[in-house]
Amino acid sequence: MGAILNGLAAYGTILPYAGTFLNFVSYAAGAVRLSALSHFRTIWVATHDSIGLGEDGPTHQPIETLAHFRALPNCMVWRPADGNETSAAYHVALTSKNTPSIVALSRQNLPQLEGCTIEKASKGAYVLQEVEGANITLISTGSEVSICIDAAKELAEKHGLKARLVSIPCWEVFDTQSKEYRLSVLPDGVPVLSVEVMSTMGWERYSHEQFGLNRFGASGAYKDVYKKFEFTPEGIAKRAVATVNFWKDVPNIRSPLNRAFQQLI
Ligand SMILES: *[C@@H]1O[C@H](CO)[C@@H](O)[C@H](O)[C@H]1NC(C)=O
Ligand SMILES: *[C@@H]1O[C@H](CO)[C@@H](O)[C@H](O)[C@H]1NC(C)=O
Repeated sequence: MGAILNGLAAYGTILPYAGTFLNFVSYAAGAVRLSALSHFRTIWVATHDSIGLGEDGPTHQPIETLAHFRALPNCMVWRPADGNETSAAYHVALTSKNTPSIVALSRQNLPQLEGCTIEKASKGAYVLQEVEGANITLISTGSEVSICIDAAKELAEKHGLKARLVSIPCWEVFDTQSKEYRLSVLPDGVPVLSVEVMSTMGWERYSHEQFGLNRFGASGAYKDVYKKFEFTPEGIAKRAVATVNFWKDVPNIRSPLNRAFQQLI
């Protein structure tokens, strides 16, 4: 299917897309790599993008998939959190004529996020909730963004901590923004905790601490599986408290984006 997609894209005149579970895009990795290398605008509509797919279990639950494709040059990996972010993903995918895209979509229903616009999501990452005097930034993608919103409430109510929220639907697109914009999203002075229910590999670029899943998932109803691995408001809040405590005596915390040499495009 991936090879056919490449043939259709090379021939031109049509915009080919393929649909499968995100985990099985890995099975087409050779074809995806050729799309990237050949500058083909192919689109993978990759559903069932996490352990949230439920009872099919670990054979169908992606863990390393996003880390793999984020490492692939000239490939956009999107993991939208709601309808507007999904529109942004399609818009950028369709208007990027020389780059393939993988759009990772959840199986479970997700709420529309207040404050999310197509314009903001098109920048690859944006501040979803700003707060004065923040103790921590939570950065997240897809189905975990709305859980982070509840975790921020939990942090305010039970721990007296203020959390900023950042949604980063596409790393590759965010990396092309100006340094000024990127530092406004992840500023100095605030420790950052990333939350994504997959391999944490690569998240060090955007966060000081990472909450993810560095093991295979489990078979069960999606809410039970999320609970087992603590991808709940309480589970995220617990790790946010640990992050704040660990970093509180560190003066001048630098944004993870502030490095000796940075990817400036
Ligand atoms: C979605 O984005 C549009 C503009 O891009 C905005 O008008 C609308 O309010 C957004 N929806 C939500 C739920 O925020
Ligand atoms: C959280 O931030 C406030 C400033 O907004 C600060 O006064 C407080 O000490 C911080 N809490 C912790 C636990 O670092």
